[in-house]
Amino acid sequence: MKLRPEIKNNITPQLILRINELYHDFENRAYNQRYASLFEMERKRWEALAETYIYCKKPLVCLDYGTGTGFVAKIIAPKLKPTDSLICTDISSEMLSVTETDLRNLTINSGLKFIKTNGTVINLPNESVDIITVNAVLHHLPNLSLFATEASRVLKPGGKLIIVHEPNADTKLPALYQLLLSTLKHGTNIHWLIMKMTEKSVLLETLLRKILSKTNPIYKHRNEFLNKISDILIQEKLIDRKLRGVEIQQLVDIQTEAGFSKEKIFTTFEPTFNVVEWKTFNYIALKFKNLENKLNSYYQKKFPDNGATFLVVFTRK
Ligand SMILES: C[S@@+](CC[C@H](N)C(=O)[O-])C[C@H]1O[C@@H](n2cnc3c(N)ncnc32)[C@H](O)[C@@H]1O
Repeated sequence: MKLRPEIKNNITPQLILRINELYHDFENRAYNQRYASLFEMERKRWEALAETYIYCKKPLVCLDYGTGTGFVAKIIAPKLKPTDSLICTDISSEMLSVTETDLRNLTINSGLKFIKTNGTVINLPNESVDIITVNAVLHHLPNLSLFATEASRVLKPGGKLIIVHEPNADTKLPALYQLLLSTLKHGTNIHWLIMKMTEKSVLLETLLRKILSKTNPIYKHRNEFLNKISDILIQEKLIDRKLRGVEIQQLVDIQTEAGFSKEKIFTTFEPTFNVVEWKTFNYIALKFKNLENKLNSYYQKKFPDNGATFLVVFTRK
């Protein structure tokens, strides 16, 4: 989808940071429902990464960047020792408070901290962290290099930076297969279906948003907060006209359409990091496991570096 030129020409880092803050503040708990199947798909990957890179460090200071509703934090926290600490940070205080409530309800032995970030600075001292975990966050950032600099500043030498679930710009999967994958993955997600259906037509979007707001309470909440986001951004003079729902989504996920190439990721982080592991993969929609497992293993063999999503692990030099 293309943003209107008058919006595209006025994108600033402040707009991207603020729209992310507002969007995730409004979305907060609804996020878990929207991405439930994604969590299910990613859980095993994170459990394996944690066994390899996280629990072996003692005592451990772990920072989860862009914690959201705590998907990674909730996997790691129960296995931490009393001498360990887990710091959760996010640009959205509402997302953080969901995680805080949920983690406080679990019996966690280790120290927990919750820090709201302004989206660029990590409010921690130099070389104070052993591990940084980042799941599905880089595609929201207006400036990847700034994040690399901050991550490198707060990590101890030898510390690990684990990044998972980001869009791979080098994906070479056939277009039809990609469409099939997304449809299988998102097919029952009403928001995704609406976005796809309304990308091309303002009229259809307006009509569908009106009808669905009257019939579906989840979509009513979403519609209301999309309207509020536009109003607040206009009030704050970050934009000068109302945004369409699909435009808000595109600004929130500012890097998703272009994705990150392996080269871009390596050159951005390599001045202060060594690469330990790089993998690309595709999602298996849980309902169609058998069909997709077959297709995926075929394409994984054929294009090992070209899956739709990547994970990367770095060591701080
Ligand atoms: C797609 S969610 C992922 C949340 C969580 N890591 C997970 O795996 O469920 C992205 C999160 O990144 C946060 N975020 C967006 N921009 C950010 C920024 N510049 N700095 C820190 N967090 C940010 C959002 O508020 C949101 O909670």
